[in-house]
Amino acid sequence: MDALYYNTHLHITTWVVGIILFLVVLALLKQSNEKAAKITHMILRLFYILIIVSGAILFFSNYIDTSGGTFAESIVKSLAGIWLVAAMEMILARVKKGQSSFAGWLQFALALILVLALGFGRLPLGILP
Ligand code: HEM
Repeated sequence: MDALYYNTHLHITTWVVGIILFLVVLALLKQSNEKAAKITHMILRLFYILIIVSGAILFFSNYIDTSGGTFAESIVKSLAGIWLVAAMEMILARVKKGQSSFAGWLQFALALILVLALGFGRLPLGILP
């Protein structure tokens, strides 16, 4: 039970920090502070790896041998998590080039809704006490 506890908290920590870093890179790009944006973006990419690894640990240690709806929801949750990372990267690339980031934000919103609805609303782990 202890390992599970640390895993969900590790995952929550990585994606909360990741989303904050994403917003910081966006703000730095808007201020044309390119050097700071580049460094922060590199740290953000490191967090993408931590998000995906901690999510994969949760999946393989809790859902790989489940079946039916739970298995399906855990697959959709995991894919939506990867999709959210991709959407953040897409938004930053477009903003960096000065192009419209609307398509990226649409994907960000859809993936975020899926991830929160499944992660907190449907799948059983949530935030363990
Ligand atoms: C920015 C991207 C992501 C966000 C915002 C996110 C968000 C969440 C949230 C809110 C939960 C429920 C609370 C928790 O136990 O941590 C969760 C759990 C989980 N996530 Fe993620 N996640 C992301 C990426 C990923 C990725 C890439 C994977 C898989 C490779 C993944 C797999 C899982 C699994 C298997 C769970 C456990 C489901 C449960 O029982 O609650 N996540 N995630």
